[in-house]
Amino acid sequence: DMGISDRPSWCPALAAALLAGGVFVASAAPAAADDPADLKAQYRRPNEIPFPAANPYSDAKAALGHTLFFDPRLSGSNTASCASCHNPALGWEDALPVATGDGAKALERASPTILNLAWAEPLMWDGRKDTLEDQATGPIEAAGEMNQPMASLAAELSAIPAYRRMFREAFGSETISGPAIAQALATFERTIVSNRAPFDRWIDGDDTAIDEQARQGFVLFNGKANCAACHSGWRFTDDSFHDIGLKSADIGRGAFLPDLPVMQHAFKTPTLRNIATREPFMHDGSAATLRDVLAHYDTGF
Ligand code: HEC
Ligand code: HEC
Repeated sequence: DMGISDRPSWCPALAAALLAGGVFVASAAPAAADDPADLKAQYRRPNEIPFPAANPYSDAKAALGHTLFFDPRLSGSNTASCASCHNPALGWEDALPVATGDGAKALERASPTILNLAWAEPLMWDGRKDTLEDQATGPIEAAGEMNQPMASLAAELSAIPAYRRMFREAFGSETISGPAIAQALATFERTIVSNRAPFDRWIDGDDTAIDEQARQGFVLFNGKANCAACHSGWRFTDDSFHDIGLKSADIGRGAFLPDLPVMQHAFKTPTLRNIATREPFMHDGSAATLRDVLAHYDTGF
């Protein structure tokens, strides 16, 4: 187990693919590098979720956000909820190469996971949203996604007594507005944190939590394979943007930084938490499996 996810298939995939590609030379990994304490410290998870002062946590707000997130009435057709594209059983994604929106039309990009976003900024593959509050109403109103104007959603929810009660408990008022919906959704989303993996127990000092192959994978990941140059820290992301040479025509972050050559075709580094449940991979869904991802990094573009 590479330990990034809870499933045991990670490390064999990484090690086998890298071995097959001839990148990993077993004798080049000195025994001492098996337990680099200072390196491991960089992967220690935080104990508490940060909530912003402008939208502090409350149980009532999180419960309301949870209800909203799974409610298909948020879409104009009453058929799609946030969870249609961010499904907890699929790593809070949808297992599709690119998302399917209103009217069963394909969108341009894959649905990213919403795990551990309390720590992540900016948001979206191209970084166009600064906060979860800014992001939350976007998909509701976007014609291609949930296709429901905010005024019509507010009216629809206001007619439901249980929602009026939940908004009162969360905000002290039964008035249902776009900003209140966004605050509740954002609060719920901040509570979505990946479970502790065997990797985390290993980082915390349980030497038997992951096997030898996984420990070698960690050395490779931080050393010769250089994955940690971008997939750094406990979420395995630098929250920055890189062009890793995929063939997609999408210019990603470049749309906002047209004068920066390095940002053309650059996309946000995805977290690798719970990666085994999140196939297919990349902003365009172009890598079906982890082996495909590793083959891309190994053989070049
Ligand atoms: C039709 C599918 C679909 C629906 C429905 C949907 N999303 Fe998304 N979501 C996406 C896609 C696709 C992206 C990435 C778009 C991009 O980067 O251009 C995304 C991105 C996000 C992100 C940014 C994640 C990150 O790592 O930067 C958040 C947060 C999010 N969605 C929350 C929500 C919420 C809350 C709802 C419901 C109000 C919702 N989504 C409904 C498909 C969907
Ligand atoms: C230069 C920065 C960089 C390096 C180095 C790097 N990655 Fe990535 N990685 C990215 C970016 C950016 C993406 C998303 C690219 C896209 O969709 O356009 C990505 C995507 C991925 C994905 C797919 C995740 C998903 O949610 O779709 C996996 C898995 C992955 N990388 C693993 C690795 C491994 C393993 C290594 C080392 C062999 C590595 N990466 C090295 C930046 C990097």
